[in-house]
This record gives sequence, C-alpha cells and structure tokens, in this order.
Amino acid sequence: MTILGIETSCDECSAALVEDGTTILANVIRSQIPVHAPYDGVVPELASRMHTEWIQDVVACAFKEGRTEIGAIDGIAVTVEPGLIGSLLVGLSYAKGLSLASGKPLAGINHIKAHLYAPRLEQEVAYPYLGLLVSGGHTILALVEDFDTMNVIGTTIDDACGEAFDKVAKHFGFGYPGGTAIEKLAEQGNEKAFSFPMPSLHKGEHRYDFSYSGLKTAVINQLDQFWNRDFEKNDCNIAASFQKAAIQMLLGRVKRAVRDFGISRIVAGGGVAANSSLRRGLLALKNVQVVLPSKVLCTDNAAMIAGIGYHYLKSGNASPLSLTVRSRVPGFRKIYP
Ligand code: KG4
Ligand code: ZN
Repeated sequence: MTILGIETSCDECSAALVEDGTTILANVIRSQIPVHAPYDGVVPELASRMHTEWIQDVVACAFKEGRTEIGAIDGIAVTVEPGLIGSLLVGLSYAKGLSLASGKPLAGINHIKAHLYAPRLEQEVAYPYLGLLVSGGHTILALVEDFDTMNVIGTTIDDACGEAFDKVAKHFGFGYPGGTAIEKLAEQGNEKAFSFPMPSLHKGEHRYDFSYSGLKTAVINQLDQFWNRDFEKNDCNIAASFQKAAIQMLLGRVKRAVRDFGISRIVAGGGVAANSSLRRGLLALKNVQVVLPSKVLCTDNAAMIAGIGYHYLKSGNASPLSLTVRSRVPGFRKIYP
C-alpha cells in the first residue's frame, strides 16, 4: 500500500509517499525558516498563508520524486492534531479535497504519535518501548505499546524543552530556530561556566515530569547569579551551560523511567531529538536499546505521517470527511503507576 502523507502542523510544509509504512519513496520538506527568522519565532498567520501558497506544489513534487500519481496510491494521511489551527486546516482541507476527488480513503493523524513512529521508517523496532518526544510544543515521556497506544507517564508542567531553546536563543539573539543555533554555539562553549538550577520534581505524581520555565528564567534574567566566574560570560558558554541543563533534565527522567518500569528499549523523536548532546547521552545509557531517527526524521516531516497512516488505513480505520483539527490533545492524560 502506498500512502500520501501531508504535514502542515507548524512551519514545515511537507508531503511524502511511503510504501507499507516503512519504505520512503519521497519526502519533500519545504521549510518556512526564512519567512519566520526575522521575527525570531513562528508567526502563525504567516505560517498558514505560506502553507496555502505552497501545498499544491509540495504535493506535486512528492508525486514527481516518488514517480507515482494519485491514481496509484491507496490512501491519504494528514496531520490533524496538535498544532497551529490555521496551518493544520490548510493541510486537512487540501487532503480532504484530494480524497473527495480521487476516492482515496483519508486518515487523520496525531503528530506526536507520528514522531514516535518515525524510526520505523529506517529500521525495524519492536514494541513496546519508552518514547521520549521532545519538540517545540511538547515534552512527553510515554510507554508506547503500538502505533496507536501511548500511555503518557510524564510531561512538562510549564514550557516545552524546544520552546526553552527557542526562547533563550531569541532573548540573546542567537538566531532562529533556537535549537540548532544553541547547539552550534555550545560546541565552542564550556558547560561549566554557569550552574543553572534544576527543578526538584523527584517524588510523587511529578517524578517523570519536566519543567523548563525556571531554567529559562534563570538563563534569561538571573544569569550572574549562576555564573562561575572562573569562566568568561559569553554566548558560547551560556549556550553550552543551558544545553547541558536542558538535556540533563531529559536524561534524568528517562533513567528514572527505565529503572522503574524495567524498560529495555527507548525511542526518541521530535526536533530536539536531533540534538547531538541528547543523542550521545541516550546512546550512552546502559542495558537498553536506544533507537534514534536520523536527524531529518526528527524534525517535522510528512514521511512519518504517511508511515503511521498506513497502519490506520490497513486496519480499516479511515476517517470521515467531517474530520477536523485540534490545537491540543486532551486525550494525552498521564497514568500514575
Ligand atoms: O518536532 P519539531 O520540528 O516541531 C514541533 O513539532 O514542534 O521541533 C521543533 C523544535 C524547535 O523548538 C527547535 O528549536 C528544536 O525542535 N530543535 C532543536 C534542535 N533542532 C531542532 N533543539 C535542540 N537541538 C537541536 N539540534
Ligand atoms: Zn513535530
């Protein structure tokens, strides 16, 4: 089965063709970075306008790259949640139009589940696994049982990890997107220059949760308070020390969950999973298999949407044309073991 995937939840306009949930025939990703860079962040109204202008061509490019045409595909998968409403609506409206005109079934896809599906496009990964989803809007630790079943055990109680990278970078003028800008600066910096505070979420119902607003505030507003004066106060040292604290928080919760749940396999996904320091930290964990998607499949892409979409469509779970979008997903409740 060949599925066309469409992803427009934020600032990447992407279309992909994937066969049987695993083989990528085409994965066209058109980034809006130059459009949003002058504002140091995504401007939702601009994002949806760009998707409207680009979607037709991006889908056409995917068909060209995959040497396929609409008549030859078996279904259409499209991101419907979570994300920016205006951006999601462009992708969904386009997918509905294609579905109606071609008679191909439609599947509405949860973007978070798709991120944790992404490595399956490159290698076989057995279920279950501990999923670490770290993106611009979410920081989630979940027990993933199959493509559709995710039991969330931890989430951020305030800002998302990627959001903290973006806001710190915006404040200091490091560049946009913040994650890649900070990672680059951090390579030249000393992570001991600042000792930023870590949240004390160690017990009870918050023991797998994350918090980034205290770290963000410390870096932005209380820099001198945490400065080790043996080192220079410069951009590279700020970036390296912030990155270390941000990544340590992720690794700490992952280690705790691995120990408590007897986890033998970890899958990471989302834009921050492209961070080399996080990747090194995860790969250094003992006695667990760590599966990381290649960097291009960490950030937003339609291949992961087409890949997971195959499973919904194969099992006969097509969505009705009344399908709609949601900016947030209330179903992502935590379970407390
Ligand atoms: O998954 P994604 O592409 O979009 C969302 O679903 O949000 O993630 C984007 C986020 C942004 O916050 C960006 O700064 C962050 O991922 N990011 C990174 C890196 N590359 C992207 N954060 C840290 N290090 C990176 N190398
Ligand atoms: Zn994403």
